Amino acid sequence: MDKQYHYVIVDITIILLSIIHFVSTFKCSLYAIDQSSLEAKLTKINNSSSYNPILNLGDLVFSGSATSTKLANKNYLSAYHTFDHLGVPHFFLLIIDIDLKSIKLNLTLNEKDGSGSFWQIATVNTNEIIGIRESFHSGSTLEVAKINQKDGNMTTIGTYPYGSYSLVMVYASKRRLYFNVIESTLYAVNVDTGKLDINIQIPNDYVIYAIDYDYIKDRLIGLVYSSSITNSWILTEIIITTKNELKFDRIGKTIIPFDKYQWTTTYTINLNQRSWITIWDMKDLNKSVFIALNIDNGEIIEKWETNLNRLTNLVCFD
Ligand SMILES: *[C@@H]1O[C@H](CO)[C@@H](O)[C@H](O)[C@H]1NC(C)=O
Ligand SMILES: *[C@@H]1O[C@H](CO)[C@@H](O)[C@H](O)[C@H]1NC(C)=O
Ligand SMILES: *[C@@H]1O[C@H](CO)[C@@H](O)[C@H](O)[C@H]1NC(C)=O
Ligand SMILES: *[C@@H]1O[C@H](CO)[C@@H](O)[C@H](O)[C@H]1NC(C)=O
Ligand SMILES: *[C@@H]1O[C@H](CO)[C@@H](O)[C@H](O)[C@H]1NC(C)=O
Repeated sequence: MDKQYHYVIVDITIILLSIIHFVSTFKCSLYAIDQSSLEAKLTKINNSSSYNPILNLGDLVFSGSATSTKLANKNYLSAYHTFDHLGVPHFFLLIIDIDLKSIKLNLTLNEKDGSGSFWQIATVNTNEIIGIRESFHSGSTLEVAKINQKDGNMTTIGTYPYGSYSLVMVYASKRRLYFNVIESTLYAVNVDTGKLDINIQIPNDYVIYAIDYDYIKDRLIGLVYSSSITNSWILTEIIITTKNELKFDRIGKTIIPFDKYQWTTTYTINLNQRSWITIWDMKDLNKSVFIALNIDNGEIIEKWETNLNRLTNLVCFD
């Protein structure tokens, strides 16, 4: 009897904890770029009702909605571009100290090789910044490039095969591979050799909408469509088998229905909190919704709606 009673108490505690969780603030410090006006603003998001602009960045363009990352857990790192009065783009690397709320580096990227925007950037270590940008190398539309933080020069590390792409890309630090999906093939450039080490056709019954990397467990996480669960997105681990095939292991039971939500490619991962924080458009409503998922069990940790529907480039600091 006593034992059973104990279990009931434990159950109630768990339920209460999960309710409390939904209204609490993020466990990491969340930042985003608010582009609802001409001037982009770095914004601190405390919780579902507290959005605080902390720095005005002026009239600039971020190529992607997941272009930003963190550098040494205290700097917001991004690449952006502006257009001059002739419509010519100018490219920059931006480092913002989030504690001082000030710009640490606003570096002009030297476009001598004539390539284009960065769709994503990543840090190899605190000094080395790499990213995926448009490529003018023949036979390629995207390349992995390295940015020299002193002079803004960039060098190509390796290229991906030519084809259309949809910003499904991530740098997997422990594997030294920069993954990228191009026309239903998963590719990866080795950042040390520049070679295309991974080239695997994605099975017909899957579409990968987003890919992220959990360096603590060295695994790839994907937001995917699977023909076994129609009309919804699901979270899966993406495994590369020894036979060089892709295997999708579903994480938890959460589904995100196609008819209610629209994927915006706005997301960030915080590994210490085990959370994948995403923003979706709500179909037929002029609203967005934040959904934070636990990357180990797939459960929704937080979910709230907001009228601020131009938030992009999330980064969550420990
Ligand atoms: C948001 O939270 C931070 C601490 O995380 C606090 O310093 C700041 O004052 C909060 N913002 C508002 C508007 O309360
Ligand atoms: C959101 O945070 C603000 C200050 O940062 C606080 O005053 C408010 O109570 C919080 N709201 C919720 C719903 O947690
Ligand atoms: C970065 O520098 C460029 C060129 O000097 C300037 O136009 C732009 O406003 C600066 N950006 C920020 C965010 O300070
Ligand atoms: C960077 O680019 C400039 C202009 O093209 C060149 O003069 C300089 O030598 C380059 N620096 C390095 C380290 O390659
Ligand atoms: C959508 O919401 C934004 C922010 O609340 C507002 O500025 C905009 O006018 C709205 N658009 C429409 C079509 O209602």
